[in-house]
Amino acid sequence: MKILVTGAAGFIGFHTAQRLLARGDEVVGIDNLNDYYDVALKQARVAELEKHAGFRFQHLDFADRDGMAALFARERFPRVIHLGAQAGVRYSLKNPHAYVDSNLVGFTNILEGCRHHDVEHLTYASSSSVYGLNTEMPFSVHHNVDHPISLYAASKKANELMAHTYSHLYGLPTTGLRFFTVYGPWGRPDMALFLFTRAILEGRPIDVFNNGDMERDFTYIDDIVEGVVRTADLTATPNPDWSGAHPDPSSSSAPYRLYNIGNNRPVRLLRMIEVLEDALGRKAQKNLLPLQAGDVRKTCADIDALHDAVGFAPSTPLETGIPRFVAWYRAHYGV
Ligand SMILES: NC(=O)c1ccc[n+]([C@@H]2O[C@H](COP(=O)([O-])OP(=O)(O)OC[C@H]3O[C@@H](n4cnc5c(N)ncnc54)[C@H](O)[C@@H]3O)[C@@H](O)[C@H]2O)c1
Repeated sequence: MKILVTGAAGFIGFHTAQRLLARGDEVVGIDNLNDYYDVALKQARVAELEKHAGFRFQHLDFADRDGMAALFARERFPRVIHLGAQAGVRYSLKNPHAYVDSNLVGFTNILEGCRHHDVEHLTYASSSSVYGLNTEMPFSVHHNVDHPISLYAASKKANELMAHTYSHLYGLPTTGLRFFTVYGPWGRPDMALFLFTRAILEGRPIDVFNNGDMERDFTYIDDIVEGVVRTADLTATPNPDWSGAHPDPSSSSAPYRLYNIGNNRPVRLLRMIEVLEDALGRKAQKNLLPLQAGDVRKTCADIDALHDAVGFAPSTPLETGIPRFVAWYRAHYGV
């Protein structure tokens, strides 16, 4: 099977491509290698992927309308896994246009490519951020998500709405996955685990927001990839029980599905720091700060829908996943 993986130089795209290649799929990976974070890390991920004969990399911006149309026309992908995006909540307050370009213009180009070239199934990344002002826990795909609190979250919610439109108008099967704080080897330098690890090893204090009173449903990358690949293999279908009189947000009369992909085991930020300190064998100096604009205090995923659909059952606790991240970090950076 030939599969387009966007954001292949990114954290989740890289791992997803690795898994698909390991099972014998042909993967075309695209990425614009932007400098939102360390470009060398993105290039190192691509270099790993290029060790596989079944992988081809295209340096392409998915906001490039003509470039994307030509890619879809040339390659005729049966499946697309769209994991590229401008990620990050805090950066969306400083640089909103990056989110419009990559997440709105770019997503439109993906949808158009899928529509015009009969893609069998589009799987794309959404985010737990869409839950915004919701406080009912765990977050469920059946909840209303009309109150985002960052442009990043709004762009992800917009992707879900855009996908539904194409599922309805053109019968394009689409599945959105709302990720919850993914971590692991080859992880993202803008996220807390990476920032904390680097700071502790360099003897600098770490910034702990909301005085540490935060909880996150940390999900290990291998569990995530298992869920992404199983979901991509299950083409979205219309829900025969769906009713326009009582519209469930997670499915439709169109071939459209939405799932949470998290751990369903929220961990306090201060506990995450303790596990990291144990793995590093060093204590952190904590710089306690207020909650940042755009951030939510707690996330926790209801994962029943994805469990029922594909048997998704994350199994990696933080006590296993963080030491694996630390081992990768030390080996990769030689520290
Ligand atoms: N990692 C998490 O905890 C998390 C949580 C919620 C949602 N997500 C979503 O999951 C997806 C993957 O996230 P990730 O952690 O791998 O992020 P990442 O930033 O590591 O990967 C995204 C990749 O997309 C590429 N990209 C961005 N804009 C592009 C464009 N216009 N054209 C081509 N490439 C472009 C980037 O260069 C990057 O390599 C994203 O959609 C993200 O919003 C991630």
